[in-house]
Amino acid sequence: MDITVLPLPPEKMKAKIADQSQLGFGKHFTDRMFLAEWTVDKGWHDARIKPYEPFVLDPACLVFHYAQEIFEGLKAYKWADGRIALFRPEMNARRFNHSAGRMCMPDVPEELFLEGIEQLVALERDWIPTAPGTSLYIRPTLIAVEPVLGVKPSDHYYFYVILSPVGAYYAAGFNPINILVEDRYVRAVPGGTGEAKTGGNYASSLKAGLEAKKRGYDQVLWLDGRERRYVEEVGAMNMFFAYGNKIVTAPLTGSILSGVTRDSVLNMASTIGCVVEERMIDINDLMADIRAGKVTEAFGSGTAAVITPVGKLCYKEDCLQLSGGRVGEITQKLYDTLTGIQTGKQKDEFGWVRFVG
Ligand code: COI
Repeated sequence: MDITVLPLPPEKMKAKIADQSQLGFGKHFTDRMFLAEWTVDKGWHDARIKPYEPFVLDPACLVFHYAQEIFEGLKAYKWADGRIALFRPEMNARRFNHSAGRMCMPDVPEELFLEGIEQLVALERDWIPTAPGTSLYIRPTLIAVEPVLGVKPSDHYYFYVILSPVGAYYAAGFNPINILVEDRYVRAVPGGTGEAKTGGNYASSLKAGLEAKKRGYDQVLWLDGRERRYVEEVGAMNMFFAYGNKIVTAPLTGSILSGVTRDSVLNMASTIGCVVEERMIDINDLMADIRAGKVTEAFGSGTAAVITPVGKLCYKEDCLQLSGGRVGEITQKLYDTLTGIQTGKQKDEFGWVRFVG
């Protein structure tokens, strides 16, 4: 499908953020966006790159009422030689369509997903920050825009992509965060939407997150929705626990998100001398293992969160420190390897990088 590039009038051009150390996460947006539409009769059509601007949408649109929405998150990096690299965007395209299937939305053809992103990023290349720890965050989104109040799949969708120059997801940067294991609320149940990247999963996590924040924690770690016993994920991250050189993570049982960074960690582990194990993690056993000194490090993985060290894990009355509250050796090595590949400082032996243009 041809992508039309609409002109960018000077009044739609924004000033770039001069101090890249102040970017934060998802607060600034570039000058242009990508948009394509799907209708029952025409399928995908009208793919265009246009100035970044608000949508005018009917208040009855299905997305506003029944949350028929999915999204993705990936990043672009500008290498020292000027090339622009995307990290495993095909994985995001595939997961997007997996989410679409669960939410009764049309697939976005992989070529349209990738081509839309690549052309947009190429046009917005001057927005890609280059300071250490920064990147251009890419947010593909699919929303239901049919204006009707009956509960049903929409007959009209917008697939759009916006870009945001970002720094670290957590304000503290690459420093250990404190996590509270959530034992009252649940994020997902078997057969639910936990494995789809849909906005409702994040909306329903807000209450637990806010209550945890009030108590001084950065994030909550969700347990399984049936027994509230097995470790699942931390909303914006999958979780890993290092037992010496063995890295353990929860299996993809259907209620946690299949993270691109999670998969990358599983693949990179052997290059830093680690073995991996995907298994059910009973929270009681985990706390006992931390207390006994068997768990030497914990970290989260995610596109936004990259590799985030965990300094403290608290469950009920029990609060335990990990790696002396510092960044562990394995966590640091995985962070260095991953960001090294993404930014071109380390050889991409996995073939994960896809260049734009
Ligand atoms: C990402 O890591 O890209 C995500 O989508 C997590 C988001 C909640 C910031």
